[in-house]
Amino acid sequence: MPETPEHFPDIVRERFAKVARSPDQESKFPVGPESAKKLGYDEGEIDDLPASVTESFCGVGNPLSLGEPAAGQIVLDLGSGAGLDSILAARRVGRSGKVIGVDMTQEMIDKARQNVHVLGITNVEFRLGNIEALPLEDASVDVVMTNGVFNLCPDKSKVLAEVFRVLRPGGRFQMADILLHDDVTPEEVATKGSWSD
Ligand SMILES: C[S@@+](CC[C@H](N)C(=O)[O-])C[C@H]1O[C@@H](n2cnc3c(N)ncnc32)[C@H](O)[C@@H]1O
Repeated sequence: MPETPEHFPDIVRERFAKVARSPDQESKFPVGPESAKKLGYDEGEIDDLPASVTESFCGVGNPLSLGEPAAGQIVLDLGSGAGLDSILAARRVGRSGKVIGVDMTQEMIDKARQNVHVLGITNVEFRLGNIEALPLEDASVDVVMTNGVFNLCPDKSKVLAEVFRVLRPGGRFQMADILLHDDVTPEEVATKGSWSD
């Protein structure tokens, strides 16, 4: 498939469907529990989770290290993947709170739903959708967190506008992502094999 903007969502879906199905075959970027530990997640918390929760983790940082959600809060996880951050947030907000994960890859949504089912967690819901048009009401969440999805979104302004639409006044946005410097040359870009190198 050509890497043109109109094909981009399909390329991203295809790539992350594979990370959901066969995480051990991903070789271009770090995936799994050891990567989470290197990024600063609590080792004991990661080791205590079933492999299916951590094996497809492909975040680039630890958004919860920027602030712990409080009991009773509503948290939105953009590009929730197999659900690791959503599950950790669900433990923090407790039964009076709620976490909503949104991801556009069906295989990730299926895996995340299965993961919360296995853990018996009932305060998390995963919705299939594009974060450029969030399936949520205005001013309906206390915390938006995201781990490794902004760099995959061609229209970042649209995503940011959605984040601020759904955040309540005084809400918090906690983001972990990768940045591209302004001074990267076309030659350097051309030497990269794909967007995820
Ligand atoms: C790098 S992975 C990170 C997954 C998860 N946050 C984690 O830390 O393991 C990026 C995720 O974002 C999803 N994604 C990418 N672009 C998206 C978009 N525009 N809308 C919704 N999900 C998107 C992918 O399907 C993938 O599951």
